[in-house]
Amino acid sequence: MNSDFTDDNGIENNLLNGDYNQIKDGTENPLRPKKLADFQGQDAIKSNLSIFIQAANDRSESLDHVFLSGPPGLGKTTLAGIIANELGAELKVTSAPAIEKPKDLAGILTGITERCVFFIDEIHRLKPAIEEMLYIAMEDYEMDWVIGQGPSARNIRIPIPQFTLIGATTKAGAVASPLYSRFGISCRMDFYRAEDIMSIIRRSAGILDISIDEDAVVQLAGCSRGTPRVANRLLRRMRDFAHVENSGIITKDIVMNGLKRLEIDAMGLERLDRQILRLIIERYDGGPVGAETLAISAGEAVESLEDFYEPYMIQQGFIKRTPRGRMVTDLAYSHLGLTPGAQRKAGGNTDENQSLLF
Ligand SMILES: Nc1ncnc2c1ncn2[C@@H]1O[C@H](COP(=O)(O)OP(=O)(O)OP(=O)(O)O)[C@@H](O)[C@H]1O
Ligand SMILES: [Mg+2]
Repeated sequence: MNSDFTDDNGIENNLLNGDYNQIKDGTENPLRPKKLADFQGQDAIKSNLSIFIQAANDRSESLDHVFLSGPPGLGKTTLAGIIANELGAELKVTSAPAIEKPKDLAGILTGITERCVFFIDEIHRLKPAIEEMLYIAMEDYEMDWVIGQGPSARNIRIPIPQFTLIGATTKAGAVASPLYSRFGISCRMDFYRAEDIMSIIRRSAGILDISIDEDAVVQLAGCSRGTPRVANRLLRRMRDFAHVENSGIITKDIVMNGLKRLEIDAMGLERLDRQILRLIIERYDGGPVGAETLAISAGEAVESLEDFYEPYMIQQGFIKRTPRGRMVTDLAYSHLGLTPGAQRKAGGNTDENQSLLF
């Protein structure tokens, strides 16, 4: 039966090439927690998930389908791996843009084993024909397939083992509601609290054998945008500064200097964040301005504006979304040391706020 869908032998290798365990060079990412107990923060999500996983394990059933949403770098892919581990199940990883044709999905579904965890990243990007197929697979654990051609063609329903679909997205609003409604468990992840980021930094420093002072942990956590990926990235950079300048120990001074060099301010805003705020203020009188226009002015893709830059600035109260576009708040003016109404300049493309840096 497989031969109907996997005429192209490499299909699974090509499609199941998600980046679960990999950093750039393809080696395993040692900082990715493998157990729920090592996953810091997000307590409500964690405690619910541990109950659902335990119940599924006790009944030897597959876990209900899980929907994970939230800004980049908060741990969606990590959680998918943890769920598979805690279920003692096989993990198959792919991403929606890799599933181009029904044949691609069929190839994966026919290779699925009982209680397998099938992770689809960027699930908001699935094509409608693939979504339709997924509905039946999720609900009835069956797959519709046409065999033969012309008058002799017929439709068969192929049973597939009970599996758990985990769908992740940074754009929950872009997921079709019939698809969303088929997930029995939905976890919306939000930015981490400073103390959780601090535990993540301590854990990562331990794994990477980095010496870091407690003051430095606090300082670094405050500038990590509530995002584990950013915290880990900054920790690695500070390790470099400490290596060259301070016999390897990350102190508060090393962090302050390092952040200044990286142009990250005390609120965790980077140069481009400040540039975006300045653009709205100086070129668009504080807004409202549409995302597309803003992205073009900032020289960024609208996706990175919406997925990466904006969510943190909205959460921190620098920007608000209105039906007519993005607007800056008073906090943005005061953070940049500006006065509302006082600056309509031609440029708006500079970052003059060196004083904001440490
Ligand atoms: N709760 C956590 N505890 C410890 N480390 C974490 C946690 N969440 C994420 N990390 C670390 O942050 C990194 C980024 O997480 P991950 O790749 O899972 O994010 P993501 O939500 O899938 O992002 P994207 O939307 O860009 O795919 C991981 O490699 C892991 O090291
Ligand atoms: Mg991911």
